[in-house]
Amino acid sequence: MSLRRELKPHIYSVGAVDWDRRLFDELIPLPDGTSYNSYLIQGSEKTALIDTVDPAMTDVLIRNLEELGIKDIDYLIANHAEQDHSGSIPQILELYPSAKVVCTPKCKDLLMDSLLIHQDKFITVEDGKTLSLGDKTLEFIHAPWVHWPETMLTYLKEDGVIFTCDFLGSHLATSDMFVTDEVTVYEAAKRYYAEIMMPFRPIIRKNLARLNDLAIDTIAPSHGPAHNKPDFILNAYGDWASDEVKNEVVIPYISMHGSTKKMVDYFTEALIERGITVKQFNLSEPDIGKLAMALVDAATVVIGSPTVLVGPHPKVVYAACLANALRPKVRFASIIGSYGWGSRMVEQLTGMMPNLKVELLEPVVVKGVPGEEEFKALDRLADEIVNKHKELGIIRE
Ligand code: FEO
Repeated sequence: MSLRRELKPHIYSVGAVDWDRRLFDELIPLPDGTSYNSYLIQGSEKTALIDTVDPAMTDVLIRNLEELGIKDIDYLIANHAEQDHSGSIPQILELYPSAKVVCTPKCKDLLMDSLLIHQDKFITVEDGKTLSLGDKTLEFIHAPWVHWPETMLTYLKEDGVIFTCDFLGSHLATSDMFVTDEVTVYEAAKRYYAEIMMPFRPIIRKNLARLNDLAIDTIAPSHGPAHNKPDFILNAYGDWASDEVKNEVVIPYISMHGSTKKMVDYFTEALIERGITVKQFNLSEPDIGKLAMALVDAATVVIGSPTVLVGPHPKVVYAACLANALRPKVRFASIIGSYGWGSRMVEQLTGMMPNLKVELLEPVVVKGVPGEEEFKALDRLADEIVNKHKELGIIRE
């Protein structure tokens, strides 16, 4: 879908809205689609294009540029080398042969490798470097790991607009150029943070701190709507990336014959009775984005699994690998579940999550179906979680 609109005078949104895309990286669900935002800035002397779009929607970008009557592009600013933003660069360079690709030195390497762009086409910029378009000035801010090591932000000084590419974005297809429905955007942005940014939480905090020095009027990411009230998304990121956790327990689980399900249900009630918020996820048909979102804030995760060939259920293994990769700030973890004749589920599962810097609370694993003894053990585990949360000050006496 073509959406060609003026973000501010002489700054146009020329990217594409992808209403139908439902999966990213063959992994991440996109329940609300996404957009690949590209922005054209016309200075009094030079014209710059900020990022391009996914290769599947190159025609939309080109049509938008043609309909705006753009005859020349001097600089093609590549904030990020991932193909959903860089994939149309070769075609744009064919149409606008005098354009130079402006990016970090690392981004140049990646673009040469992945898109076979000749090295003569690049201008590399160091952190803090500026580039004049005449009456408008671009400042480049190296911001590694939002989302790859080569990423940078581009700040348009005179207009107070910062182009952040993946950073502060959201997978959300919308006809709104700016955020209008904060509830919807908060949900989409949190899902995006959880899936894309959470593994780099300490670096995210440093990148956020760098924005404090800038006068920001508008945040223009390359996914989702732009923010003309920057505090909304900056405060949300400040919360998500902080070390603060909430009085919440996330329970991803699966059950084959009902024993683990009985334990999970009993345990969920035990936690709720003790004043703890519970987020339960049946992994038989999981929305991993929802699970990732729940892990943004929770103080504790308790995994429920039956035993398959002495190990955890493969769908639990998948969730554990994902949690390990996303590096949530959870403080405590435990495992509950069942087995028929023997189990090394606890040892195998804990070994799969070395990135989680958690205190492991005594697991509860039952042979066969749970009985009185196991329910008492689940009560003990619930009590222990309450005590741990009290120690953190996130549950009141
Ligand atoms: Fe939207 Fe890391 O690309």
